[in-house]
Amino acid sequence: MDNLPPQRTLTFLFLVLFFKAVFSEQDSHVQLASSVTGWEGSCAVLPCEIIYNHDIDYYMWFYNPVFDKTTSDYKGTIVYHSTKMEEVDSSFIDRVEHIGMTVKNCTILIKNLQKNDTGHYKLRKIWKDNKWMSKQELSLTVSETAPELKLHEVPKMQENKEVTLTCSIDYFCPSNAVNFTWLADVNRKVTTTDVRNDISTTRTTTSLTFVPSWEDNNKMISCVLDRMNREKENKIIQLDVKHAPKNVTIIPQSPIIRIKEGNNVTLKCSVESSNPPEVAITWYKNGGKMQGTDAREKLFKESGRYQCEAKNSAGSNKSNTVEISVLHLPKSVSIQKPEGNIREGSLVTLSCSTVANPPVSRYIWYKNKREFFNSTDSRYAFRHITENDSGSYQCEAVNSQGKGISAPEQLDVKYAPKNVKVVVKPDGKQFLEGKSVSFECVVKSSNPNVTKIKWKKNDKSVTVSIGNKSIEAADAGTYTCEATNEIGTSSSDAVTVEVHYKPKYSDCKINEKNKKEHDELILKCPSRKSNPDITSYEWFKSDELYSTTTSDSIKITNLKLTDSGYYSCRAINPIGRGPKAECEYIWIHYAPKNVTVGVSPGNYVTENTDVRLNCTAKANPAIHRYSWYHNKKPLQTSQKEYVIVNIQLSHMGEYYCIVDNTIGSNTSQVIYLHVSYSFYTIAIYTAAAIIPFIILILIVVLIIRFRICFRLKNCRKEDRSDSAFFVLKKTNNEASDHPGHHTRSEDSLTEQINYSSLQFPISTNGGQSQPGTIYPNPDDIYSVVQKPATTADYENVKKAEDDSQDDIHYSVIANLSSATVKERGQEVEYAMLRQ
Ligand SMILES: *[C@@H]1O[C@H](CO)[C@@H](O)[C@H](O)[C@H]1NC(C)=O
Ligand SMILES: *[C@@H]1O[C@H](CO)[C@@H](O)[C@H](O)[C@H]1NC(C)=O
Ligand SMILES: *[C@@H]1O[C@H](CO)[C@@H](O)[C@H](O)[C@H]1NC(C)=O
Ligand SMILES: *[C@@H]1O[C@H](CO)[C@@H](O)[C@H](O)[C@H]1NC(C)=O
Repeated sequence: MDNLPPQRTLTFLFLVLFFKAVFSEQDSHVQLASSVTGWEGSCAVLPCEIIYNHDIDYYMWFYNPVFDKTTSDYKGTIVYHSTKMEEVDSSFIDRVEHIGMTVKNCTILIKNLQKNDTGHYKLRKIWKDNKWMSKQELSLTVSETAPELKLHEVPKMQENKEVTLTCSIDYFCPSNAVNFTWLADVNRKVTTTDVRNDISTTRTTTSLTFVPSWEDNNKMISCVLDRMNREKENKIIQLDVKHAPKNVTIIPQSPIIRIKEGNNVTLKCSVESSNPPEVAITWYKNGGKMQGTDAREKLFKESGRYQCEAKNSAGSNKSNTVEISVLHLPKSVSIQKPEGNIREGSLVTLSCSTVANPPVSRYIWYKNKREFFNSTDSRYAFRHITENDSGSYQCEAVNSQGKGISAPEQLDVKYAPKNVKVVVKPDGKQFLEGKSVSFECVVKSSNPNVTKIKWKKNDKSVTVSIGNKSIEAADAGTYTCEATNEIGTSSSDAVTVEVHYKPKYSDCKINEKNKKEHDELILKCPSRKSNPDITSYEWFKSDELYSTTTSDSIKITNLKLTDSGYYSCRAINPIGRGPKAECEYIWIHYAPKNVTVGVSPGNYVTENTDVRLNCTAKANPAIHRYSWYHNKKPLQTSQKEYVIVNIQLSHMGEYYCIVDNTIGSNTSQVIYLHVSYSFYTIAIYTAAAIIPFIILILIVVLIIRFRICFRLKNCRKEDRSDSAFFVLKKTNNEASDHPGHHTRSEDSLTEQINYSSLQFPISTNGGQSQPGTIYPNPDDIYSVVQKPATTADYENVKKAEDDSQDDIHYSVIANLSSATVKERGQEVEYAMLRQ
């Protein structure tokens, strides 16, 4: 290499050194670039690195070395010697320089390249008696032309995405630099030119980083290489920035387009820019996609807010909004009224709704087809709606395009029943009980209809039957009726109905039920019901009107027995007489009266007869005790009846009874009971004494006869006319109904009579003597019986009806042969004794 010309200093000869290192063979000691390119005058860097690290003594670069087998060493041109510069070939001295900064970095720079420099280069290192020649060789090519400027493949550019463009040349030489310039009118450049050198690849690059906008699309960018002292070289690219459609607008661009109904308008969707240019169009109406319309231009005839959207693969954009306003007369005119019932008195607003373009200018309201309101307001308000506001309403809306009228809307004003009245028929307030009266609840008007009628009587709910009814006392009262409908309830005025009737339910009350004689009796006759008031009272005793009073009570003082009885009363008012109220039976209590002892068979009995004494009395209350007395001595009995069985003469005497009740006691009359011997007893006595006494009797008879004649004036007369007894049967036909009977008895009398028992009447009342009276000895036999001067009746002798018989003297002749007293009535014979 000694013959290398010194024209390496000729810098005007612009050589571009191009080298390329390829590490082709693995070497554990040294690593070299495989190939490096350059051109005449330029420089070349031979990259090298010593890997195996031990203390090396020196190393050498060889140009085209050849192994000499004889010397077992390499021969060749030494390009560089790390320690002995004098060993370096003259053609390379001054042109080669070690640029590695460390011991292990064996990179050298060859400047001012000559064509002859083309060849293989190797490194030989020497340490302690060891030698090592690199296995790889670096091939240097020095050509006449410089390497081309390269603009690297442009990445896909997208709007707003950062992109970097790279421009490079496969050349690097520190002492012979190149300049790059970017000519780019792009927005938002981030980095401009940046030269980077890479020894391993021996390449110089520059890059441009920027964020392209859609407006940068199609712009030209050039990378300009400025080689020293050579004409400039450049590479140009056109930017392809993908972007969504830009500036999508609807044409015409006025925000609102007014058309008449029936006309139409064409809208165009315009796109200013789009990459890729293929665009799909979508139309929107009022925010919603319109179906099946993808044309750029379209006819529209409906009102609405329209938009279009353009879309390509990079994205989509929407246009501005254009409103189409179709002018038309008011349509779908309708009246809105409140929901539900419209109640009278409420605030009701009707509103007229319509669709109109332009807006309605006037609203005209009609009620039953007659205009009544003309306003710009769409509403009509009833402040207090009334029944009369019911009707058929219409509203008419007017705008510049015409007018429209609504369908009739019925307004039905509801209200609670009105003018509720109680109607009583016949008209009046006072009725006689039993009269036919009807009650009716009359409602003058109601909307909706009355659903319920409720009656109240004296503020209490009652059921009132509609229609005629017989009015009763209980129906009197104050009536109201309430009528109810869906809206409410109204009440009538009160109507008072009075019912007149006769007094009712009289009652008779006595101050005390058991009254004594001379007590006071108060009867009360309170009447519970009467309308009008009671004016008087009638009192009844045993259904006979007894008294009439104005007060409801009567007083009877000094009660008598005759006041006993059933009392009743009744009240009287102007309508009539009430029912009779019976009082209880009034008992007047009194001590026993009319106490009488009855004797059976009679006062005169023969011994051994059964005699019954019966004590009767009137009393109230009933007698509770009977006391019997015989000759003033009490008997051991308290029975009403005192029976003497087989009466003896000892039973003869006075009897009476005393009776008691709660009021007092009373005594009966005294009766005298005569007991006479029986025929048998007399017969025995007579038989025993008949002989000695016959004479005595005769004497006595004579004596008696004289005594009698001496005492009685008419004895002599009688004596003259008749000295003996004449026992005559009384033949008074006028006293007996059966004369035949007496005729038959006359014969038997004369035969049977032996004695006559004569009772000499002393007392004035016949046979009933008072106690204490002296009686003749029953054993005495009287022959003359004379009637006393007084004209009293004799017992058992009927009073003669003939006045001429006053003078007749009677004597009772008992037929002693007859034993039984009972048959006495038939067997009694009468003797008429004449003076
Ligand atoms: C060697 O030195 C050169 C020049 O200074 C340098 O460019 C290269 O990177 C170095 N190599 C290594 C492996 O350090
Ligand atoms: C309503 O009133 C307006 C203004 O007063 C008037 O011009 C118009 O004729 C009226 N319309 C009717 C139908 O009365
Ligand atoms: C009592 O007897 C007398 C005479 O028999 C009679 O008149 C009177 O009515 C009687 N009295 C009573 C209360 O029965
Ligand atoms: C007893 O009865 C008589 C009449 O029978 C009467 O007059 C008399 O008052 C009575 N005596 C008494 C105490 O009641």
